Amino acid sequence: MKYLVTYASKYGSTKKYAQWIAEALSCDLMDAGAVKPGTLAQYDVLIHGGGLYAGGFSGISVITKNYELLSGKPVILFSCGLADPNDPENISHIEAGLAKVLTPEMQKHIKQFHLRGGIDYGRLGLTHKAMMAMLRQSMLKKDRENLRDEDRLMLDTYGQQVDFTDRSTITPLVEYVLQLG
Ligand SMILES: Cc1cc2nc3c(=O)[nH]c(=O)nc-3n(C[C@H](O)[C@H](O)[C@H](O)COP(=O)(O)O)c2cc1C
Repeated sequence: MKYLVTYASKYGSTKKYAQWIAEALSCDLMDAGAVKPGTLAQYDVLIHGGGLYAGGFSGISVITKNYELLSGKPVILFSCGLADPNDPENISHIEAGLAKVLTPEMQKHIKQFHLRGGIDYGRLGLTHKAMMAMLRQSMLKKDRENLRDEDRLMLDTYGQQVDFTDRSTITPLVEYVLQLG
């Protein structure tokens, strides 16, 4: 089996996971933006990782645009977001976002994993800074008692650097890929 890991990463957390996964599988690694029409034909399995931005999944078009080519091959998707993937409500949010861009057939076909990234406010671009500032303002208007853990964490660490990336969390994905054959 020839595996390809692709990633779409704005600030590096998803790329870090993609590098760890490619290392564990001893396979090729590529920025999703560099994938050409002929690239995927050379591989048996695609593993794509994308950072989460306001419910959107970065680089998902590497799958949606090339689905005809991929429909006969195993496709694995991993998300990288700030929200804790051990909380089922957060997984529901990610799945709802994916349901907007993946057909029901694609959702059934693609195996999903969810990994936790981080945030460094000092490195955010202007638009992202503004989005986080707006989110903070809307959270500050709410009663702290009623906030979700994610939102409380965001308020408490706003402006700082938070990093939840953890190499050991790639294990279930790597084991899943290896048992494919
Ligand atoms: C504007 C903005 C929106 C975000 N939206 C989400 C989100 O909807 N869900 C989530 O879990 N994380 C969200 N995050 C956090 C990123 O997913 C997190 O920083 C991740 O590690 C980014 O990965 P990357 O550096 O590979 O792009 C958001 C971050 C920013 C700056």
